[in-house]
Amino acid sequence: MRTIRYSLLTVLAGLSLGLSAQVTIDINCRKPTTDIAPTMYGIFFEDINYGADGGLYAELVKNRSFEFPERLMGWQTAGPVSIVETSPFDRCPHALRMEAGYSAVENEGFFGMGFRSGAQYRLSVWARCSDGKPTDLKIELIDKQGLTAKAVAKGVLEISSADWQKYEVVLTSVSDCARGSLGLFHDGEAAVELDHVSLFPVDTWRGHTNGMRRDLVQALADLQPKVFRFPGGCVVEGNTLPTRYQWKNSVGPVENRPLNENRWLDAMPARRSPDYFQSLGLGFYEYFLLSEEIGAEPLPVLNAGMACEFVNDPTKEGDWLVPLDQLQPYIDDALDLIEFANGDPAKNEWARLRAEMGHPAPFNLKYLAIGNEQWGRWFAPRLKMFSDQIRAKYPHIKLIGTAGPSPEGEEYETMWSEMRELKADLVDEHYYHSVEWFLTHATRYDNFPRKGPKVFAGEYACHTTGISLSHNNYAATLAEAAFMTGLERNADVVRMATYAPLFAQAEGWQWCPDLIWFDSYRVARSASYYVQQMFSRNAGTHVLKTTLAGKPVAGLDGQNGLYASAALDRKAKVIIVKIVNTSSDRQSVLLNLTGLKGTRSVRSTLLLPPADEDSDNSVENPDHIVPSESILSLNFASDPIEIPARSFMVLRFKN
Ligand code: AHR
Repeated sequence: MRTIRYSLLTVLAGLSLGLSAQVTIDINCRKPTTDIAPTMYGIFFEDINYGADGGLYAELVKNRSFEFPERLMGWQTAGPVSIVETSPFDRCPHALRMEAGYSAVENEGFFGMGFRSGAQYRLSVWARCSDGKPTDLKIELIDKQGLTAKAVAKGVLEISSADWQKYEVVLTSVSDCARGSLGLFHDGEAAVELDHVSLFPVDTWRGHTNGMRRDLVQALADLQPKVFRFPGGCVVEGNTLPTRYQWKNSVGPVENRPLNENRWLDAMPARRSPDYFQSLGLGFYEYFLLSEEIGAEPLPVLNAGMACEFVNDPTKEGDWLVPLDQLQPYIDDALDLIEFANGDPAKNEWARLRAEMGHPAPFNLKYLAIGNEQWGRWFAPRLKMFSDQIRAKYPHIKLIGTAGPSPEGEEYETMWSEMRELKADLVDEHYYHSVEWFLTHATRYDNFPRKGPKVFAGEYACHTTGISLSHNNYAATLAEAAFMTGLERNADVVRMATYAPLFAQAEGWQWCPDLIWFDSYRVARSASYYVQQMFSRNAGTHVLKTTLAGKPVAGLDGQNGLYASAALDRKAKVIIVKIVNTSSDRQSVLLNLTGLKGTRSVRSTLLLPPADEDSDNSVENPDHIVPSESILSLNFASDPIEIPARSFMVLRFKN
């Protein structure tokens, strides 16, 4: 964020030309209308767009355990090399055998491996030599440029035991490299077998082994999210029930977590990703730990006994749907998850596993979502079975149901009435819509029923040209900001909101727009990211009534495309005003703050449009659109604020 200090005169410059007539926004600072949930602004992570393997999860080796259906996918080989079923890990049974004599293998990583000059990389491998004859394995981190290749780091491991053992070496790269690979070379008298070939930067987030990319987690931490929904999305449902996300497979020793097909492998015909599998190296333990480390409430989503309805026929029963009398194992997964997160290691095996993995203290799980975007007649009876058992045993856990994939229509209404009947605590709503929809739905919750389940806006993003073929741009970003003022105004109903999807690999994405883009060594926070950050870091604790001519400021007739909300932060003793100007004119706004007098020092954060509104930040140009900060001195009674055309402004000042 850029910080600028400039005078009031500069801010108020241009009061004559290109400016709409001055308007007054009334804010009642005396009497808040409702509290704002501490969980109001959060993040939603799904393993889509190579968000986990190849993204947040810092592992650089693709297909490290040779479990992909094409066993050597991601690897090139030279010499006598084969796949054998001798692995010491029963759920990942395959291993690589390099015979005596010369052989070599090379792993391409995920769209290349990124190496930084001076950075350290930890290579680890499970191995054994045949006939007890020690043999050397040479290792190279390779920089490939066109047809040339040079080693940026080298090391050697002596494989000395005929029993499977873990070997490790730390290598330091001598130069930067965006599209590197890993080479393993064997030239010995005896064969060697390898499994779980793994390469991580040493400098992961908080230095964790089996860790996450520091730059990507930093981007999350900088959002200061208060709730963290994971691991999907459709990934939770799977294309089929056997390929649904199963959390129990994602915990315990990382070498023995079984591979799963990613739901997004083949989902988007224009963006097929045949090498998209889930190693589950980034699993539920890691998600819980991440939640804790970034200060967000964990919100896991579990399969409801239904595979993804988009790719199955939800009008009739089939192998995509678990019959009610066979649902108990799915419910047990939920009950066991609560123990894994919160239980006493002395009393429960899943809690004991959590402790063995390094976290004896509970993770304090409070929220659990059952199902993702479920619709039709099958969901409610299944949710009821989950909910009866969970509530009987863990009454403090808040249960989240779903309203289906669409934010309106008959299915949506039906789902809501079922969720009300089942007394879900929150209902997960998703909106992927056009700019027009976002701009005209800022009043969506103004007349929403105040009784019954609360709303979790669990996935939303505005797009200009249709999901998956779309791209991030500023026009969509501004519409999101406008819409979010409506969420905030209705914070008594909307208790959580999380944009989606979170991450996208610049070459490997399936779905767009996305909040954070990355490649093998760079990251770009989108303009939408900054909108999320401006809301999240300025959430406040209570809503202040904010009106223009007696009506909510929601782009209504006569409001010149203005949207606004205001909040009080009781702890910090500040008032926060958010104003979005969607019009093409600068707007002069006088804030009439009931209950507040005198001059204030005001911190303003401003997001301005780029010259081309169809553009956004990219890994090549990450700072194309960034907010700037300034400090103003304002007497609200007499000093209007100029809101630039097509901008989003947040003002903060002492109460
Ligand atoms: O965020 C991408 C997908 O959009 C999610 O998996 C799904 O819940 C929604 O349809």
